Amino acid sequence: MFISLRHPAIKLGVPLLLLIWIVTYLASPATYTSAYTSFLRQFKNERTLYVNDFLKHEVGDPFDGVGIERLCASRTWTPGLILSCDPVPGGVGEVKNGHLTCIRIAIEMGAELVLPDIIRRSEMKLEELIPNDRGPHRGIPMDYFFDIPHLVNSLATHCPQMKVYKSMGELYQQPSLLHPPKMSIGDLTQDFVAGSVAKKPEELANKIKEFMDNKSPPRDRKYPFMVHLMTPTFFWPTAYDSPDFTNNFGRILRLREDVRRLAAAGLFNMQKMFSLNLDPRGGLKRDSFVGVHLRTERDVQGKFPPYEDQAGDYLDVIVENRVPVVYLATGATKDNVTHFKERCEDFKATVVLKTDILEGADRARLDQLTWDQRALVDYEIMLRAGLVTGTSMSSFAWNLALRRKNSFGSSGGPINGTDSKAVRFKDEYSVIFGAAGVAANIQMSIWP
Ligand SMILES: *[C@@H]1O[C@H](CO)[C@@H](O)[C@H](O)[C@H]1NC(C)=O
Ligand SMILES: *[C@@H]1O[C@H](CO)[C@@H](O)[C@H](O)[C@H]1NC(C)=O
Repeated sequence: MFISLRHPAIKLGVPLLLLIWIVTYLASPATYTSAYTSFLRQFKNERTLYVNDFLKHEVGDPFDGVGIERLCASRTWTPGLILSCDPVPGGVGEVKNGHLTCIRIAIEMGAELVLPDIIRRSEMKLEELIPNDRGPHRGIPMDYFFDIPHLVNSLATHCPQMKVYKSMGELYQQPSLLHPPKMSIGDLTQDFVAGSVAKKPEELANKIKEFMDNKSPPRDRKYPFMVHLMTPTFFWPTAYDSPDFTNNFGRILRLREDVRRLAAAGLFNMQKMFSLNLDPRGGLKRDSFVGVHLRTERDVQGKFPPYEDQAGDYLDVIVENRVPVVYLATGATKDNVTHFKERCEDFKATVVLKTDILEGADRARLDQLTWDQRALVDYEIMLRAGLVTGTSMSSFAWNLALRRKNSFGSSGGPINGTDSKAVRFKDEYSVIFGAAGVAANIQMSIWP
């Protein structure tokens, strides 16, 4: 019997079949196949819970914005005065410091803020921090590294006086802002400690006012009025502000969520591989694993200590502390990584990299990231290592050490070691190597 297409059974049945098909399709397991080892795959649900715990529980005490609130309330704010900053080149340590310096100076000025950008380094030549250096420096939005909604919410909550523009695009109707006066470090101060840190931060607000008055006499000035800062890094002495500001300020720049998810998945896999039992809700486990930041890629060759020195120092830490699992944050040449792995094996320590602990879809996601973005995964994993070691030339290492010290409290801190054992920082959770006084500017100006 011929059934008309208008037959009620067809009218109901076709959409129903479609619905069943969609539901079945969506519920079927993802199609990526063999890459996940069956070992790691059996923990899929457990890993999801772990990743969520990791995202919800940042390292250390909950964020406390009271110091930021107090500082913002103590400044005089000028509606329509806007600070924009040069995009910042480099890895996460330098960029984070440049962005925070920009925001700190905006607070000092009582100015509105255009979120600063990041200069993306050349993927071909890592040492080329600013591709096309001769033209104007072009940046990309800061979500290349950071969680913008978190930053914007943190500022809105704890520094409500500061109006924030996500980009210059929000100000395009204001042609007067197209060519703002450019303020350089030399306009701010001539007095430095340790090479780049402002000696008299208390004078900066007045210096900036003088600069602006010079460029635009206050009587005739029309708002909105913008000043463009050639962003200095390792410039603001963190000790100038109260500890409740300094200890929390850096946390308004949280790393983007996708890399934190990858780090969480990697940490979960690592603890399963080595039975480490690392609960992201708890503190650090001193005997879990050592995080080593070996930094010898060509962008730092000739500037940072050579492989032999760095590797020797880090091996000492591994052997002295008798920790059998090593997480190696790369930033080192392939040869150096292989060599370091072998040396660790001599001492019965197993070395893993992020590429060893991420599988399947996570691994594919990692491979899509740029070199500097992949370092963010290292950063998040290293934050939760039992012990971290690195070189004092690296702001990445200083960020880790100071954040861990802040978060868990510890005796120890920055030191000048003796020549035979040149240590620049030592506490229960971190050891940074370097000769006396080296990189004092980084140490003095990091908001971890
Ligand atoms: C480490 O890397 C540097 C830079 O490529 C190279 O000169 C050196 O020979 C390497 N050493 C080892 C032991 O891999
Ligand atoms: C470390 O040495 C540098 C100079 O080499 C000096 O300026 C600094 O005060 C010293 N710091 C400590 C903690 O001894």
